[in-house]
Amino acid sequence: MPCEDPIIIVALDFPEASAALDLARRLDPAQCRVKVGLELFCAGGPDVVRALHELKFAVFLDLKFHDIPNTVAGACARAADLGVWMVNVHALGGPRMLAAARAAIPEGGPRLVGVTILTSHGPEDLAALGLGDSGERVRGLARLCREAGLDGVVCSPREAPMLQDLRRAGLALVTPGIRPEGAVPDDQRRTQTIGAALAGGADYLVVGRPVTRAPDPAAALAACLTEARAARRPTILGTERG
Ligand code: C5P
Repeated sequence: MPCEDPIIIVALDFPEASAALDLARRLDPAQCRVKVGLELFCAGGPDVVRALHELKFAVFLDLKFHDIPNTVAGACARAADLGVWMVNVHALGGPRMLAAARAAIPEGGPRLVGVTILTSHGPEDLAALGLGDSGERVRGLARLCREAGLDGVVCSPREAPMLQDLRRAGLALVTPGIRPEGAVPDDQRRTQTIGAALAGGADYLVVGRPVTRAPDPAAALAACLTEARAARRPTILGTERG
């Protein structure tokens, strides 16, 4: 059954466009969106995004822009030219950079989301960076994104519950660091299962290796969708079946 608004975003982290496109052809664009990150974009450039569009996938261009406001604004405008569904910047770029990114994306263009604290950062990484408690940092950065008029933030599913007031104010929560029950965390640190992420109020779930490295990626995605459909999801008024 097609989802009207697929909530699972499959991270196509591959060294070659051909491998990413082979995998995409085994998935259904009515059931998931796809994400093009740094590795695949460096290998395949804008052409891989165009090829995914031809396969009817909505594309999240995950290049995490973080530079001076003028440079980030230009990059966001070019991402908008590509017609992607979502694009992101690092919230740590600061309020002026966030505002420049927002202003560069035309009405009806890609959703613009701000990366708060990477899901691969654990307490030791945050301490080494002088960033302290992840929850407090994520909340502060999410507030900056909201004030700059962004459409959402990228955070760990563990932080979704503490951002529900901002979510109700219109900020979508995009959560990588998703690991189905029993899966290995790889290099991720602040992970959660699909059910827990949705119960905590995440909107979109980024799933990479648990699908792309599975022996049968389509079956792995189907299992993720089953877990998502069974999850209890919060609404403003309480909870409902998702
Ligand atoms: O394979 P895995 O499920 O860990 O992939 C997660 C994906 O989400 C990767 O492509 C990674 O670059 C991306 N991502 C992340 N944490 C963020 C933002 C993006 O893991 N904060």
